[in-house]
Amino acid sequence: MSLVVFPFKNEDPEILVGNVKTALSHPRVEEVLCVGASEDQCFAAVAEACPTLERQYGKPVKVIVQERIGALRPGKGDGMNTALKYFLEETSYERLHFYDADIVSFSQEWISKAEEGADQGFDVVRHYFPRASTDAMITWFVTRTGFALLWPKSSLPWIEQPLGGELLLTRPVVKRLLEEEKVRRQSDWGIDTLYTFTMVKHGFSLYETYIGVGKLHKLYGALTDLRTMLVECFAAIQSLRGEEIPSFGIHRVEYPGPVSQEVREKVGYNVEGSLPLLTEGWSREEESLLEVLPPDVRAGMQACRSFPRFGFMDEEAWYATYQALLDHFQFDNPHWQRLLFRLWLARTLNYTVNQALRGYGHALHYLHQMVGRYVRSALQG
Ligand code: LAC
Repeated sequence: MSLVVFPFKNEDPEILVGNVKTALSHPRVEEVLCVGASEDQCFAAVAEACPTLERQYGKPVKVIVQERIGALRPGKGDGMNTALKYFLEETSYERLHFYDADIVSFSQEWISKAEEGADQGFDVVRHYFPRASTDAMITWFVTRTGFALLWPKSSLPWIEQPLGGELLLTRPVVKRLLEEEKVRRQSDWGIDTLYTFTMVKHGFSLYETYIGVGKLHKLYGALTDLRTMLVECFAAIQSLRGEEIPSFGIHRVEYPGPVSQEVREKVGYNVEGSLPLLTEGWSREEESLLEVLPPDVRAGMQACRSFPRFGFMDEEAWYATYQALLDHFQFDNPHWQRLLFRLWLARTLNYTVNQALRGYGHALHYLHQMVGRYVRSALQG
């Protein structure tokens, strides 16, 4: 029997309560827990709905505020870790499901498919779904790239959506995650990276189940919206550098289906609105950090101060840049944070213009092949 958890922060309560009902009506689900970042409006609305839902479905439904467990910015990591604690300390269920609270395409299928994977004996089931060719730019250029550079022999670079918030964990996995000091510490957006890394490090078997309808949710405006997430996701990878993990763990991926026209045509971000972010607001301190970057990248970024440039940030340039960032990036230095954002933006724009523009099929094929090339380069040292 399973617990379903929705971490949330200021979501539309109507969507969240709808998703809670969907979960409650699933025969495998014994209880639903909503974990709020704070007692916001959404929290109040869900708390009000709980008693009625409990009566209607005859199952416990709770909403709690996340505990302060970690050491970084209090965010999604504290929320997810609060749920792990609740699961271990307050329940004896075998399985825990996480779903983002804002999914408008949520259905019983998401739960059933995860349960089927666990029934087959997998320790972890992760959901994956089609995403627009210019969405998932942190996933591709930070997380999967970082996994390829640092752990090329592991299954990490091949996990489709390592930052995905939809997954099923069996009880031994939950226990192991919460035992890790680094996992408990990661209270921010880095939590998904830490969960993914830790489950592979401990050799848990992994199944990725494909959800064709995808996760219809809001996309981003200019890429500044993603700055905090980007910085925290990169810092999480950097903090794991030097850790050893097993090669070739058990990892199976369900074959994907055809991708809807909507996803194929969706533009993931506002390109024009992102261009000025390359040029605006350079400080002397930020400029001085360019020194540790490869010469071509340094020259390109210097040119950006007067006009947006990104043609130089191709696949090879990003590989070399990433290695320099792993060595030199300082999470607590705002100038480094700004520069990391600009470098990643240059890479994202370069990819958008040179690959995504050629069409959905080409773009997704390119991104997967790119990970393969990075894995091979990393293995050759
Ligand atoms: C990603 C964020 C942008 O997966 O959703 O890259």
